[in-house]
Amino acid sequence: MYLSKQEERMLVGECGESVQLAMEILTGIGDIYGAEEMTKIASAHTVMTPYRDIMDAGVEICERFAKLGAKYSVPTTLDPAGMDLQRWREFEIPETYAEKQMRIVRAQEKLGGIPVWTCTPYLHGNTPLPGQHLGWSESSAVVFANSVMGARTNRLTAVVDMAAGIAGRVPKFGLHLDENRRGEVLVKIEVGSRTLMDSDYPAIGYFIGKQVSDKIPVLTGIPQGVSTDQLKNMGAAAAASGSVALYHILGITPEAEEHGRVLRKENRKETLEFGLRELTETKEEMCTTRAGKVDFIAVGCPHYSIKELGKVAALLKGKKIRRGIEFWIYTTRHVKTLGDRMGYFDIIESSGARILTETCMLVSPTDIYGFETMMTDSGKCAHYAPTLCKTEVIYASIEECVEAAVRGFMH
Ligand code: F3S
Repeated sequence: MYLSKQEERMLVGECGESVQLAMEILTGIGDIYGAEEMTKIASAHTVMTPYRDIMDAGVEICERFAKLGAKYSVPTTLDPAGMDLQRWREFEIPETYAEKQMRIVRAQEKLGGIPVWTCTPYLHGNTPLPGQHLGWSESSAVVFANSVMGARTNRLTAVVDMAAGIAGRVPKFGLHLDENRRGEVLVKIEVGSRTLMDSDYPAIGYFIGKQVSDKIPVLTGIPQGVSTDQLKNMGAAAAASGSVALYHILGITPEAEEHGRVLRKENRKETLEFGLRELTETKEEMCTTRAGKVDFIAVGCPHYSIKELGKVAALLKGKKIRRGIEFWIYTTRHVKTLGDRMGYFDIIESSGARILTETCMLVSPTDIYGFETMMTDSGKCAHYAPTLCKTEVIYASIEECVEAAVRGFMH
């Protein structure tokens, strides 16, 4: 791979041992994928954050970088931690687990990681411009950055994301290159006179991910008024059920004209249709059980925005969560602060639901509580919860989640 003079110096250790280590990791990846050169990045985002996922080896890697004096050379945001960093005792997180998590927190602080502790960094200051190269991991954030913001990043893995933040570069291959950003499968969404609702978008994403795997879909039929949250939740589901890292929506996303239209002419054969039948079937497929008693309701995957927090607060206003049910809402500390000021926190917590920040149901040890049936409004969560939380799953709208929380069951 071609390296600039500066990159050569970084690789041979002239810029310090931590930078050398980062460059060794990045050039190694570049060689594997046949990258011809490196590209500078505007920002990084790392998933070297929840103890539940990265375990002791991850703690050691974070501490090793910190000990070597590593510093992120570009703005580098942090994915959720493995517990609510403020309320973890309330949620009975074991001390030994918390101690390991706090070691990760301290090491990431030393490196200068931006402590947003969220999978929605694009809503919290790590907001790239179209065409900018990034070194991001976190599949839900990657698909949003590529598709909605028109920035360019591969789905990096843990450790490689830290190396990218330290070196301020990534090997230039995959989605960094124009030719790899073209649409590959046309997906026609046609649901007749039905207005697409919030809970339809994760199902659309889930369907697309299952069907296209890692190909680049081009969507038609998404209304102009689609919201940021709907795209966030659709992309997260597509990145979970498949490994979609980029989609185009004609008339909406920034590269759809340039890279989406190409497909319409060249690849007409690869067309998927998503209608009312697919919508119903996909929602069924997202559930491992259909009805019955629910003991855990978990929403906010990806982390709830302030608008989503406002919506659930309005639904919970004046209601009480039934005894025996936990209703947990995951978001960022920043959104919670706004929610406090807007009165949402009081409404939500006085209903018996709870707001957890800087973590989520999948990266914290939710399995320790022994929940049996989880209900969620998240396509990504519905996909992973049976394995990671060891529960049955019911996928539903937030309205249905609140109804079940008050009634105690889903029917
Ligand atoms: Fe975010 Fe956790 Fe879901 S990191 S996308 S809330 S799995």
